[in-house]
Amino acid sequence: MTHLQIAPSILAADFRHLGDAIQMINESEADLVHVDVMDGRFVPNISFGFPVLKAIKPPFSQKPLDVHLMIVQPEQYIDAFCEAGASILTVHYEACTHLHRAIQMIKANGVKAGVALNPHTPVHLLSDILDEIDLVCLMSVNPGFGGQKFIPHTLSKIQQLKMMCANRREDLLIEIDGGVSTANAAALVKSGANVLVAGSSVFKSDDPKLSIQQLKSSYSSINC
Ligand code: DX5
Ligand code: ZN
Repeated sequence: MTHLQIAPSILAADFRHLGDAIQMINESEADLVHVDVMDGRFVPNISFGFPVLKAIKPPFSQKPLDVHLMIVQPEQYIDAFCEAGASILTVHYEACTHLHRAIQMIKANGVKAGVALNPHTPVHLLSDILDEIDLVCLMSVNPGFGGQKFIPHTLSKIQQLKMMCANRREDLLIEIDGGVSTANAAALVKSGANVLVAGSSVFKSDDPKLSIQQLKSSYSSINC
């Protein structure tokens, strides 16, 4: 792995000043903007949808939108989310009866396809879809809310996924979502993560740009 991407999650931003949050991300070392869409059915919370995505999508955001769908029957909305500005679109394994079809729909829009796994879902279930996808998002909290505590078992899931990818999908994006901070970032990267989502640890800090920079330097810290 040669590159670590940081994806600040705007779920933790101050929505009265969402434009400022995007501006901060533009000026930071972040690589992506992580956008959490929740429907109140797949997860016990409701966040935001198309109008918000359309308002922040490039060129307003200079970083691509990494859209995480925590919704049931996501295939009903795949084309609309691609149209609304997603560069990466991630659906949950647990929400898709026809996951292969959902992945093909995303890719047909020229958008990168991701699959997210809840903490209880084993990574080996991705074996027969691994060659089709661009990103795996390992949930390191139960999805639905920001600011939760990191589940340590995630480290072993990253290592298992890394082993599945050996000689097969060395280019796979392995994203970790939930409770990520400078306290665990180096361990995550060492295990094989190459995209870190961070909500609270960025937006609740005194200096969000510095927090992003510190997360970004987790890669170099394990290599010196
Ligand atoms: C949780 C969301 C996360 C959330 C992470 O359901 O998928 O992206 O914003 O927030 P923190 O970093 O605060 O755990
Ligand atoms: Zn997320």
